[in-house]
Amino acid sequence: AETDSAHSSSSGLTLSNGHTAAEIDWDNLGFGLDHLAPTMYQATFTPEQGWSGQLQPYAPLQMDPSAQVLNYGQSIFEGMKAQRTAGGNIVLFRPDENAARMMAGAERLSMPPPPPELFLEAVISTVRANQHYVPPLGRGSLYIRPLLLGTGPILGLGPAPSYTLVVYCAAVGAYFKGGQLTPIDLIVEQRFHRAAPGGMGGTKAAGNYSPVLVVQLAAKRSGYADVLYLDAKTDTYLEEVSSCNIFTVKGNKITTPPLQGTILPGVTRKSVIQLARQLGYEVEEAPVSITEAMAADEIFTTGTAVVVSAVGSLTYKGEKKQFGERGEPTKVALQIYETLTALQQQRTKDTFGWLVPV
Ligand code: COI
Repeated sequence: AETDSAHSSSSGLTLSNGHTAAEIDWDNLGFGLDHLAPTMYQATFTPEQGWSGQLQPYAPLQMDPSAQVLNYGQSIFEGMKAQRTAGGNIVLFRPDENAARMMAGAERLSMPPPPPELFLEAVISTVRANQHYVPPLGRGSLYIRPLLLGTGPILGLGPAPSYTLVVYCAAVGAYFKGGQLTPIDLIVEQRFHRAAPGGMGGTKAAGNYSPVLVVQLAAKRSGYADVLYLDAKTDTYLEEVSSCNIFTVKGNKITTPPLQGTILPGVTRKSVIQLARQLGYEVEEAPVSITEAMAADEIFTTGTAVVVSAVGSLTYKGEKKQFGERGEPTKVALQIYETLTALQQQRTKDTFGWLVPV
């Protein structure tokens, strides 16, 4: 048996659902904190002393009510996964991409960019410390959440005088309720937009995720899994879903909206573009109008948490377009999902060199 003893963090969250890692029911993982891992990494930054960090038990962060992040929102995050491979090893998927995106996000929000070596060391040491929480092959993953926060106090509007980098993780399964292979129903949002040109839609900022909740909660009450946003300027072209990027399929052609600052530059999005080309599809990063989307053969979404999810239906202005057989993942989505996860779990050769051993 694993030796991690279950304990409660002082936040009241029960780590590992009150069980030892050995007792986790790997076949019933959802996407949540039920199986939160007991060790996190925390580093602080001050201009005088630079970065300094270490592993420690998962626990609440101490900060002033006047912390910049609580008042003005200097907060960016990443989403990553560690997986068990067919050979029994633990790997990360393109962690250098997350390190680079966090650096870019830090610049956008006037925070000190954590050096990539520090970021990778933080992530790898956190995964190693919690390796018993990496599910067995194909039964889920260890979801890793790095956060960069302006935790120093300030009253007038300005950047924080000091910063905190945190990495915590939890064993997770499928993001959407119905399970990984169940297609999702999406509704196109008609009132709100996710991001405007010149804003921070391309940054993985916490502030991009709270404004979508009002719409997402209403959509969920009506039975939709998530919401698809159109561009703020013309209300015509697809942007992204609250939690993931989007692709359309028509014949042999796969199209995804281009990165012009309003869409999150997803690591899975980027990888799927490359994998789909390798599979022989013509892949274009180009504007996709809602009319084109409603006439597509298939639609699927991508993200670290979501992986690849087939869209079962898209509802726009009261019209519902069904894709494929009800309840069955569509063909191209399934092929891309299989190709990506086979690579990530080293069931096939990682010809791109995307996997990093932990
Ligand atoms: C991820 O896919 O890792 C994200 O950060 C999206 C989040 C809404 C779960």
